[in-house]
Amino acid sequence: MATTTTTTLTKLALSLTLVHAVCASRQILQAAGASSICAGVSQYIIAPSYVYPNCSITTPSCAWYSFSNGADYVIINPNSGPGTTANSDYVNLVSDIRASTETFITTILGYVATTYGAKSEAAVNAETDLYNSVYKVDGIFFDEASTDCTLTSYYSNIVTHVQDTTMSPTGQDYTILNWGTNGPECFLLNTSGNVPADNFVTFENSHASYASYAPHAYMANYDPARFYHIVYNVTEANLISTMTKSKQFRAGRVYVTNDDLPNPYDTAPTPFTSYWEAEVEKAAASC
Ligand SMILES: *[C@@H]1O[C@H](CO)[C@@H](O)[C@H](O)[C@H]1NC(C)=O
Ligand SMILES: *[C@@H]1O[C@H](CO)[C@@H](O)[C@H](O)[C@H]1NC(C)=O
Ligand SMILES: *[C@@H]1O[C@H](CO)[C@@H](O)[C@H](O)[C@H]1NC(C)=O
Repeated sequence: MATTTTTTLTKLALSLTLVHAVCASRQILQAAGASSICAGVSQYIIAPSYVYPNCSITTPSCAWYSFSNGADYVIINPNSGPGTTANSDYVNLVSDIRASTETFITTILGYVATTYGAKSEAAVNAETDLYNSVYKVDGIFFDEASTDCTLTSYYSNIVTHVQDTTMSPTGQDYTILNWGTNGPECFLLNTSGNVPADNFVTFENSHASYASYAPHAYMANYDPARFYHIVYNVTEANLISTMTKSKQFRAGRVYVTNDDLPNPYDTAPTPFTSYWEAEVEKAAASC
């Protein structure tokens, strides 16, 4: 049983790698205006995987098994941030992911809350430094990000700190600002005084709220890889239509789950095959 599952997932991983490659070239065609093959984009999954890793990524009942078999990026959150010292369960998790030859995960991000700019740059940078020294992450997910254009230098500085200090074994220094809602273009401008984050969460809310969402017009001028939608409380019946909508909204990064408030990120989406695998396949498809 376990062997069969592993074999199936290996095949799925291989076929999804091919699908990703095909979709990437389609995105380039669309961006160049050469052809409009479909109204959507292929996507990578970023999992806000805030589940305590007290089980193995190779155990099918473990949430981290699901994340490992489908998420391209994961966010680790030992204690609403890195905590104060090394947590051996997280050290082991990161080491297991790095050592795995089957996982989809290419990028491990650390969670840091910025309290809408109220947390000092020094305090934010200290958390980044702790993730780097203890877990050797590939980048940082900055939560509670402000949408106030007077704070572009604050966010530019903490993004620059990640780029200057990364200890990622993969050489990445990926950064995400979580607005949770649409934000202004000032944060994306590559002006001399502003170093933009790689990606912005422009929707984080429930399935019900997604019905009234629309992206800002300026977002159509940017690569879909710059935008990330997180939709929770999505039933299995609504999964594919929600994924399709996120593609039509040009969110190149996505996470859809049937977990719900008060904490929609304390389990992986279930069931594995009919929900999570369906989401993984749909994300990789171009429409
Ligand atoms: C993992 O930890 C949670 C609490 O954080 C606990 O409820 C659960 O029983 C633990 N599971 C294992 C396998 O230790
Ligand atoms: C602007 O910065 C972003 C984030 O670093 C990068 O992805 C993008 O390629 C840059 N654009 C230009 C035109 O340099
Ligand atoms: C989640 O969605 C269901 C309908 O599918 C709704 O009844 C429920 O209230 C929602 N949960 C929350 C916390 O809003």
